[in-house]
Amino acid sequence: MVGQKSARRAAGLIVEMIKEGKIAGRAVLVAGQPGTGKTALAMAMAQALGENTPFTSIAGSEIFSLEMSKTEALTQAFRKSIGIRIKEEAEIIEGEVVELNIDKHPTGTKLGKMTLKTIDMETCYDIGQKMMDSLTKEKVDAGDIICIDKSSGKVSKLGRSFTKARDYDASGMQVKFAQCPGGELQKTKEVVHTVSLHEIDVINSRTQGFLALFAGDTGEIKSEVREQINTRIAEWREEGKAEIVPGVLFVDEVHMLDIECFSFLNRALESDNSPVVIMATNRGVTWIRGSDQKSPHGLPLDLLDRLVIISTTPYSYEEIEEILKIRSEEEDVLLSEESLAILAKIGEDTSLRYAMRLITFADLVCKRRKGAEVVKEDVQKVYTLFLDEERSSEYLKEYHDEFMFSEQDMNIDVE
Ligand SMILES: Nc1ncnc2c1ncn2[C@@H]1O[C@H](COP(=O)(O)OP(=O)(O)O)[C@@H](O)[C@H]1O
Ligand SMILES: [Mg+2]
Repeated sequence: MVGQKSARRAAGLIVEMIKEGKIAGRAVLVAGQPGTGKTALAMAMAQALGENTPFTSIAGSEIFSLEMSKTEALTQAFRKSIGIRIKEEAEIIEGEVVELNIDKHPTGTKLGKMTLKTIDMETCYDIGQKMMDSLTKEKVDAGDIICIDKSSGKVSKLGRSFTKARDYDASGMQVKFAQCPGGELQKTKEVVHTVSLHEIDVINSRTQGFLALFAGDTGEIKSEVREQINTRIAEWREEGKAEIVPGVLFVDEVHMLDIECFSFLNRALESDNSPVVIMATNRGVTWIRGSDQKSPHGLPLDLLDRLVIISTTPYSYEEIEEILKIRSEEEDVLLSEESLAILAKIGEDTSLRYAMRLITFADLVCKRRKGAEVVKEDVQKVYTLFLDEERSSEYLKEYHDEFMFSEQDMNIDVE
């Protein structure tokens, strides 16, 4: 990311605290003008958190368009952002394949023997049809280190034995080598899965039959189901079988929520396993939806009181230039120095998003005239073809009589 130093530093601090598990149940508000990178900042935080922390992203308006109540939609979003790490003990056989013999009987059935060893012991196993198929599928050969899950019979190849490395000089770079394990061949191993609370909810509440799973239409989930699951998970935690991983719920355009949703948020943030809630808004002092009161960012004061606020500021000319440059590289568009400068100027005067759009259009114009790179004239052409918000408003003011439904004193400024 470019610029936005203090906002990024603050975001970095929050990511660190989340990773250390210090701020579950807190909320952060990212406030700033449109196009100042609020959404981009939240996405960057999601990446920095990595795969093991659940991250859910919704837009404030989504709550109203789903076929369920607002609070149900919010509850689901919350539960998607809380992960459960479940530990399981699995019986496995792990070792290096010494020998693998497969005999084909005339009847068609296959029978075989496999010798496995660790540094300390060696055992010969009789293997049946099913195991044989799994071994063939994984292309297991003598000299491989393999792991077999005893309950499911799943075979996984961990790599080639180091001791065989010399024999396979010609095997290329993609071969992975592994150490021959020591100790017993059979052992118990701890496996860890991470699932979200919402996934557990859905699996346990298939009231409409399994077809609902294909439709992706999970509908509302009964509160009894959730309560049962909460109790079960609390038990697992006490027994040390499961661990709660509070993730992050990102609510973009949070001013679109109404007063009922805000009250729900307040309460949900207080519950034991609440994720960190990150919200973004581009509103100043405005109406709180569903009420007749105004407040900063359109959020009720009792919610604002719980938040820490990160603010983003408009970009400077140089920063806009750099962002546009990154963007053009990503879109495989070649911009001449001059056209980049013009685009950056346009970005500074109108908006970053408008300038970004123009890159794509200018590239099309350039391709049509079979040019090698976008030049000043291409940008000028698309600038006259497509209006930005300000010029469009000017135009509206000038010709308002000729439009349908035009109110002369209407305030067209989008803030
Ligand atoms: N610091 C940045 N570095 C790179 N790209 C950025 C940066 N800030 C914003 N952008 C880009 O600008 C556009 C608008 O940013 P966005 O995060 O959607 O704004 P907001 O959510 O504040 O309205 C996005 O395409 C985003 O990728
Ligand atoms: Mg945004």
